[in-house]
Amino acid sequence: MIDIAMDYLGMKLNGPIVVASTLLSDSIDNIRRMEDVGASAVVLTSLFEEQLALESRTLDEDLSRGTEASAESLHFLPELKDYHMTHDVYLDHLRRAREAVKIPILASLNGATSGGWQRFAREMEQAGAQAIELNTYALAMSRDQASAEIEQQLLELVESVCKAVKIPVAVKLSAAFTSLSNLAARLEKAGARAVVLFNRFYQPDFDIEALEVRPTLHFSTPSELLPRLHWAAILYGQLKIDIGVTGGVHSAEDVLKSVMAGAAVTMMVSALHLHGIEHIGRVLADLRYWLERREYTSLAETRGCLSRRSAPDTSPYDRGNYIKTLSSYSLRQTVAAF
Ligand SMILES: Cc1cc2nc3c(=O)[nH]c(=O)nc-3n(C[C@H](O)[C@H](O)[C@H](O)COP(=O)(O)O)c2cc1C
Repeated sequence: MIDIAMDYLGMKLNGPIVVASTLLSDSIDNIRRMEDVGASAVVLTSLFEEQLALESRTLDEDLSRGTEASAESLHFLPELKDYHMTHDVYLDHLRRAREAVKIPILASLNGATSGGWQRFAREMEQAGAQAIELNTYALAMSRDQASAEIEQQLLELVESVCKAVKIPVAVKLSAAFTSLSNLAARLEKAGARAVVLFNRFYQPDFDIEALEVRPTLHFSTPSELLPRLHWAAILYGQLKIDIGVTGGVHSAEDVLKSVMAGAAVTMMVSALHLHGIEHIGRVLADLRYWLERREYTSLAETRGCLSRRSAPDTSPYDRGNYIKTLSSYSLRQTVAAF
């Protein structure tokens, strides 16, 4: 049997498919099914900073002192009852998930400022999380906030959480940083053990009849994998820490491309919502078949073979790709499309 084990965050995972943070893992039965069909780890849904700030306003004044989420901004957010788990319920769910399966369970914290994270990270560690994923989604909309300041805030947040716990911490990043290689290197220095590429954003849609702006959620398509592949291929070899890919992973081919770019793991959510949890088993069967047909003995030996570091000619990763793509596009292709 072909070896598809991968190392991630210092853990030996039995395969390359991790279930990324999603509501599906709010059910212990689903987590069991994920393990049964071959998921190698599960990242639980996130606890949100805004939720913790709301809880802490009623439960713990200490926490709210450190958070920068203002009363005004919280007013526009869901009320406490609208979050599907309070932090106590979350920790209990985490404990039950750990008892239910053998695969690693990662907890997830989602926020943008540094208030209170250390305490919650420690509680997650005590409840049995084998690692923590930090999702630091923030929209930089103020003309007074420079990118250097945002990066510094992120680094401080990561460093404080890494110092607070012994378990490894992965950082789920936005693609919208100016200098990702530099940021990733500084995250490594701050103590992160992996970067996860990339957070997917859910821009609101505009209803022109009701004159309203509404939340929308579209599942990903495999075309969204391309920026992740590109950056995994660029970062691989520049970093000592692991790379995870999330966003647009739907098939065995997507898993292979990501690992060949340099990823240690790939993460799936949309494909599971669209095709069911059993989809993982089908993808792993396709993956094994592909590797066997080409006489590989393990998946790990393909890792990074299409990274920028391994390339004899790096121009396809650089500006050369951009120029070539645009200049080789023929007008006939456009005409044929009409
Ligand atoms: C219904 C749903 C809930 C999600 N919840 C979270 C969350 O709580 N925290 C988080 O970091 N990402 C969350 N995500 C993002 C996913 O973890 C994942 O990164 C993203 O969907 C890209 O992967 P995909 O292309 O396989 O869907 C959620 C996505 C979906 C579709």
